[in-house]
Amino acid sequence: MSILTLSGSPSVQSRSAHLLAHLRGELEAAGERTSHIDLRALPAGPLLAARADDPAIAAAARAIAEAQVVVLATPVYKAAYSGLLKAFLDLLPQTGLRDKVVLPIATGGSLAHALAIDYALRPVLSALGSRHILPGIFAVDQQIEIDGSGPARFDAALALRLEEGVLRVREALARSRIDVPLEFVPVPLAQRAAHAAHAAVAQRCPA
Ligand SMILES: Cc1cc2nc3c(=O)[nH]c(=O)nc-3n(C[C@H](O)[C@H](O)[C@H](O)COP(=O)(O)O)c2cc1C
Repeated sequence: MSILTLSGSPSVQSRSAHLLAHLRGELEAAGERTSHIDLRALPAGPLLAARADDPAIAAAARAIAEAQVVVLATPVYKAAYSGLLKAFLDLLPQTGLRDKVVLPIATGGSLAHALAIDYALRPVLSALGSRHILPGIFAVDQQIEIDGSGPARFDAALALRLEEGVLRVREALARSRIDVPLEFVPVPLAQRAAHAAHAAVAQRCPA
């Protein structure tokens, strides 16, 4: 049961990456297992040449395949999401997010593209087969205070949305933990009720 956070910002001091770091901390404090990939650390040449067999890119794709929940964050670039994120997503198999819960996060310079998650990113995640895309979290730069050292500070509205995001991820994980495995065929409720009725009759009227 693992959670992977994926940062799609090319910036060293990335606001969207700070949101991811915060979520990771909260999820770990709640006892969840997390890991992280910074896409800006992948080798640029192979990434742009679509070399999915590059060892670092293949390892990142494997980490996605093994994760149950993917929390990804991107800056809004030109009304959509970062080219870095797109270059990486393009290298995943067509169903690379199948059966995964995905929480998309984006930060932008203004509210002008607050819906970028929904009109730009969500269709891509869906095309990659995600069965459960959680409501996205969008923040504008003014809501995130960074000073270059230490964790970022968030305004109250954003802090609340992040808290909701953590709860949604944990809820999705909890639900998947009690999911009935595919190979287990449960006795339908009606059939169980019939068995119980039959047993009760048999007890009252022994043959
Ligand atoms: C190349 C570039 C394009 C951008 N385009 C937009 C945009 O279209 N809409 C917007 O709201 N912000 C835009 N921004 C601002 C960033 O989305 C914003 O500062 C974001 O928080 C940066 O995230 P990061 O620090 O994680 O990289 C752009 C920034 C850059 C560098």
